[in-house]
Amino acid sequence: MKETRIICFANNKGGSGKSTTCANVGYGLAQLGKKVLLIDGDMQLNLSLSYFPEEQVLEYGRGEKNLYYAVKNQRGLEAYIVPTSYENIDMIPSSTLMSSIEYELFTKWQREFILKQVLGGVAASGIYDCILIDSPPTLGGWVMNVLCASDALIIPVEATPWGLFGLGNMFEFLEEVKPIAPGLKLMGIAITKVDTRKSYFKQTLETLKELQDVHVFDSYIRVDSSVEWSQDNNVPIMAYKKSSRSAKEYEALTKEIAACL
Ligand SMILES: Nc1ncnc2c1ncn2[C@@H]1O[C@H](COP(=O)(O)OP(=O)(O)O)[C@@H](O)[C@H]1O
Ligand SMILES: [Mg+2]
Repeated sequence: MKETRIICFANNKGGSGKSTTCANVGYGLAQLGKKVLLIDGDMQLNLSLSYFPEEQVLEYGRGEKNLYYAVKNQRGLEAYIVPTSYENIDMIPSSTLMSSIEYELFTKWQREFILKQVLGGVAASGIYDCILIDSPPTLGGWVMNVLCASDALIIPVEATPWGLFGLGNMFEFLEEVKPIAPGLKLMGIAITKVDTRKSYFKQTLETLKELQDVHVFDSYIRVDSSVEWSQDNNVPIMAYKKSSRSAKEYEALTKEIAACL
């Protein structure tokens, strides 16, 4: 039986590359022979849209095959898994109803652990090597659920001054969550959307390397319009254009992540 590792992608800064990184690292891990389950935890549906066309995603959201109903009804996630076009990758799609998930959680007993509870059966079944969870750009009760359900956290960070500023809030939030998620490890920071023409990138790297006890992945992801084209086609970059710079960079980042599993 497989030991399932649960990895979440979180950062309260929007646009930092969480969904893109989750989608593409998921694909990369499957390429390395891992069986992967992707969970879209954000009402923006971006992880779902990385694998399914818009009509399909909206249909999942309108129906009951989505994370919102699993959490609301506190039912095991087994019933909400849908296959993707790729053999080793399954998904639990999101719904725009996730916008009210904090409200749904509010009246529940032990509300920080609802995702952990509904995920328990799938994780214990040993079907998947990795479960990857994408999260919204917030730091509230729902993201607390995501962190409490995970073994490891990857923080995608954009190489900008505000990207670094947001990281401070993220670290404070992690300190708050630590007592109720003692098993959660910060696997590392993944730098995304790098424009090497900008001198601020060097400053970002230096600032991040100075952080104590925080691993920064060597592989970073540069800005590449192929990423946007792949998203426009609802296909991960490595499947859309394997020869692209970002496909190679995501492949390298995935290998680093796989070495930490
Ligand atoms: N390497 C990249 N090159 C170009 N655009 C990117 C890259 N990574 C992400 N993007 C774009 O940046 C935006 C934010 O990325 P996203 O993954 O949605 O961030 P988050 O999930 O943190 O909000 C999206 O429009 C996405 O298409
Ligand atoms: Mg996102």
